[in-house]
Amino acid sequence: MASAADAAGLCSLWAAAGLGRGEAVDRAEITERLRRDPWIFLVAEDSGTIVGSVMACYDGHRGWLKRVAVRPDRQGTGLGRALVEEAESRLLRSGISQLRLAVEAANTAALGFWAHLGYQRCDDIAYHQRDLDDSDASFATMRPWPTTWSADWPSRVAGQGCSMCSSLGGEHPSSLLVARGEVADVRLDRHSRFRGYCVAIWNQGHAVDPSDLEPVQAARYWAEVTRLGRALQEVFRPLKLNYLTLGNTVPHLHTHVVPRYPDDPAAGGPIPWELVRAEGPAEEIELERQAEAIRTALAGQPAG
Ligand SMILES: CC(C)(COP(=O)(O)OP(=O)(O)OC[C@H]1O[C@@H](n2cnc3c(N)ncnc32)[C@H](O)[C@@H]1OP(=O)(O)O)[C@@H](O)C(=O)NCCC(=O)NCCS
Ligand SMILES: [Zn+2]
Repeated sequence: MASAADAAGLCSLWAAAGLGRGEAVDRAEITERLRRDPWIFLVAEDSGTIVGSVMACYDGHRGWLKRVAVRPDRQGTGLGRALVEEAESRLLRSGISQLRLAVEAANTAALGFWAHLGYQRCDDIAYHQRDLDDSDASFATMRPWPTTWSADWPSRVAGQGCSMCSSLGGEHPSSLLVARGEVADVRLDRHSRFRGYCVAIWNQGHAVDPSDLEPVQAARYWAEVTRLGRALQEVFRPLKLNYLTLGNTVPHLHTHVVPRYPDDPAAGGPIPWELVRAEGPAEEIELERQAEAIRTALAGQPAG
């Protein structure tokens, strides 16, 4: 498997094999692929020198073979085949059986190699490319999630204009009040893709992190959060619960308790935030029914 220390050797291999795109671009790609798919990023070494590579990746549907390269003086010795077959067997063992790759139509040597290894040319697929203009500064404002701390962060931390403080115990367009505990309100999200996704919100004034509370208060908070977790397990029978105490935009102590299901959109890993929300709200009558079921389950839990 490749590692960060291989970057220089890979760049010179790719340059020698005619696949280099310039050292800066190549290094950025190596870093990204090592972060995402290190298990299928393979190098062949001879006495400490990198002589072959295959940088495969998985797009969620298919495996892709990229940067298959053998140093010119080693070509024709079976190394290219060995690298490809190792990547193929790793992908197959992970249940990925359809592989694709793109070859420049003029690279007849590579075309012959892939055909010989059993890869069929897909003339029914038209490969498209567009280079987007990334000079437009407004691009940054369209990101799905902010990547900077809000400019008024200190006043948010201090609780000025805190939207959670002002909506405690009341109506809110994005969530329905399920219950008011002694130290935390429980609200059911109206737009979630994860049935039963609730938020527990500290209701004893403005506080930011659990570690800012007196230990006894913090223990009471977690007792109510875990009580909510048990109620959600009982009602929704999830595969797993995720407890997310974030507060990176609204720094008022709250914990998202998210039931995870066998067929959920991020099965087996953390939920990217943009996957949490469904297109529209769930039916109000269904939400009310779920809220009532959670209330009943909470009432049946031993006190915190
Ligand atoms: C293409 C490349 C990776 C092949 O690696 P290689 O180590 O030279 O190939 P191998 O020696 O493993 O060859 C494997 C088999 O393919 C066959 N083969 C190789 N090139 C072939 C060709 N042009 N036509 C037909 N068969 C070919 C070999 O005869 C060998 O057959 P065998 O295993 O049945 O005996 C290598 O030549 C290379 O790095 N080229 C430059 C970079 C490049 O173009 N990469 C592909 C980008 S998509
Ligand atoms: Zn607050």
